[in-house]
Amino acid sequence: MKRKKVDKSPIVLVLIILLVFSLLFVLTGKYNQKNSSKKKDKKVSNVLEKKKNEKENYNLKTGEEIVGKSKNNKLITKYMGAYYVDGVMIVNKSYPLDATYKPVDTYKPITSDYLYGGDYLDKTVMENFLKMKEDAKKLGYDFWLSSGYRSYKVQVDLYNNYVNRDGKDAADTYSARPGYSEHQSGLCFDMNGTNSNFLNTEAGKWTNEHLTDYGFILRFPEGKEDETGYEFEAWHYRYVGVDLAKKLYNNGNWISLESYLGVDSKY
Ligand code: DAL
Ligand code: ZN
Repeated sequence: MKRKKVDKSPIVLVLIILLVFSLLFVLTGKYNQKNSSKKKDKKVSNVLEKKKNEKENYNLKTGEEIVGKSKNNKLITKYMGAYYVDGVMIVNKSYPLDATYKPVDTYKPITSDYLYGGDYLDKTVMENFLKMKEDAKKLGYDFWLSSGYRSYKVQVDLYNNYVNRDGKDAADTYSARPGYSEHQSGLCFDMNGTNSNFLNTEAGKWTNEHLTDYGFILRFPEGKEDETGYEFEAWHYRYVGVDLAKKLYNNGNWISLESYLGVDSKY
């Protein structure tokens, strides 16, 4: 029996078309991949270039020394007895102030408010506190400073009292050793005593939500003890300026200054 001859040319044609398409598919894929990794490389090099420029653009003051880089690649410097990360002063268990450090531009208001160990703050900080106090007063809240600038010497007495009362390990969880307290910078203050429950009160809720409008942050937020090195303090506020304060507020879920700057706080 004679076998019917099958015309194979359409099948061959289909196979050729399929082959051409697959080749095109593979080649364009490779091209896009190459192009996107090129784009990625360009993006990375742009970021690096920007970082380099930022570093070069950072104007070191006369006498300001570069100490190194933080975990976030920010520039750590030392100037006039204090450490700075990208220009933001940092005082904690890892970055002490020199014993002789004193805030330069200070302001002592005429007030009967009690301040432990000193009755002044850095001028900008005091002005912003007074603005906040005034606005809070309109809402019926009474804000007062319970501790402002504390000298090295005052911190010696304070810390030693705590060590005698609770022992060194316990004292280190809530009180800074002399030279390691932010209070020596004049950039922070304790407000309305030391009430852990303050932020749950009406006045405290308003404070938590509006601190940043005046450039302040909650310096030792709850749950961030491993980052800040200290127990939660509902009353201790630090001036960092409005822009940074807003970033750290993070919709109420405070980012610690240490985490933002990429530094430790450990003895
Ligand atoms: N209570 C804070 C940590 C200080 O002593 O500065
Ligand atoms: Zn304090």
